[in-house]
Amino acid sequence: KMGGGSSKKKAMVNPTIEKSKAKVVHMCTFSEIEDTAKDGKAAYCRCWRSGSFPLCDGSHTAHNKATGDNVGPLVINCKK
Ligand code: FES
Repeated sequence: KMGGGSSKKKAMVNPTIEKSKAKVVHMCTFSEIEDTAKDGKAAYCRCWRSGSFPLCDGSHTAHNKATGDNVGPLVINCKK
């Protein structure tokens, strides 16, 4: 087959978050991460289903159950 002319799109990762933007980027400092942390840990969403994106709110559990996916957050341990 030649030339990648397939009309079939690959699946989107992000269904709902800030769709008016060309690219969703969040930037923060180390101290902001520390301020966000609960019990010394900050969890950032990687499933794009969180209601408090970019923080994880646990929505990955329902997403994984519904789709068979296996995604979860990036957890940053701020304890020194
Ligand atoms: Fe997306 Fe937890 S809600 S990783």
